Amino acid sequence: MPRSRFVGRTIDSHPKKKSGTSAWRSPSNIALVKYWGKHGRQLPRNPSISMTLSRAFTETMVQYEYQEYPSDSSHLEFYFEGKPNEAFRHRIKTFLDGHIDVMPFLKNVHLSIESRNSFPHSAGIASSASSMSALALCLASIESELLGTEEIDTTKASYISRLASGSACRSVFPEWAVWGQSSFYEGSDDQYAIPVGDYHEIYRDMHDDILIISDHEKSVSSSAGHKLMEDNIYADARFSQARHRMGEIKEHLASGEIMQFGKIVEDEALSLHAMMMCSDPSFILMTPKTLEAIQCIRAYRKENEAPIFFTLDAGPNVHVLYPESIAEETQAFIQNTLGPLCVDGRIIKDQMGQGPTAITEFSL
Ligand code: DP6
Repeated sequence: MPRSRFVGRTIDSHPKKKSGTSAWRSPSNIALVKYWGKHGRQLPRNPSISMTLSRAFTETMVQYEYQEYPSDSSHLEFYFEGKPNEAFRHRIKTFLDGHIDVMPFLKNVHLSIESRNSFPHSAGIASSASSMSALALCLASIESELLGTEEIDTTKASYISRLASGSACRSVFPEWAVWGQSSFYEGSDDQYAIPVGDYHEIYRDMHDDILIISDHEKSVSSSAGHKLMEDNIYADARFSQARHRMGEIKEHLASGEIMQFGKIVEDEALSLHAMMMCSDPSFILMTPKTLEAIQCIRAYRKENEAPIFFTLDAGPNVHVLYPESIAEETQAFIQNTLGPLCVDGRIIKDQMGQGPTAITEFSL
């Protein structure tokens, strides 16, 4: 069997560097066609496409020290926003220990990891896409430093991100990214995401205002939700629906037919939550205020013939999408009508972003 290009080489007794620091800022992303259901080693049941954000991001700094004698597992400390965090350390250690075959250098390093988010931890917005992609970029950089290879392999960083959290693999690319094999996207793959360059001007700098409808911890984790798809009687229909919608969204992205694009985006959000509602056990992550926001957005769109749409993650918060061309009037509507539905009026005003950047110090 050919050795996967992603399975790292073992560091021989002469690493190119014995210690160093790698630091990355990596953004969150919002899926338009959703990933919901996985199998094997973090492989998606259907392809997904997302828009990379810019203001919701994680900064992660990893210091490493080479240890001559390899150990069987990873060694690390973890600080979240300046303080040791045992729960996060445990999660990262479990992930690293489970993937030593992909990153054999982990046997020979001691890691000190510190991470910070640009959004409050209690904002109820998903942080695994930004945090796991930032960590994966640091790990991929450290591996190339130790091996003395020139540049970080972004696709490998996407691959490592995916192993940590599926949606994270899309965050390593600017603007739009596709993860999962799709007949509509050449080069797409279940193992990693690919960037999507072909889109109409109207979508450039697209806005995503995130309405913080609830800042509580989710009652059902994404991992548990994915698992429930295994026995969902609608699963096969859902996976083929998503596959089909990848083709439709590609077409509308390229042509600029934003109303059709928005229709699919909204249908996707509702399909995702419908899957939750017909899982066994069923669960509901939307709240009355989520539905109220959705109704207000639809009414405003109808009245003003404005291309404004909603989408949802696996949670109650509403992402409001609209193009830069209608930003001014739309923001007034969002502030005045949707703001009162949010916890303390909180809205995270995000926008399409250019992907991760290497940093030398924390900005947060
Ligand atoms: C609804 O990526 O959080 O946001 O792979 O278990 O970490 P894990 O799941 P995660 O699931 C994200 C689900 C989603 C849709 C999406 O981002 O595509």
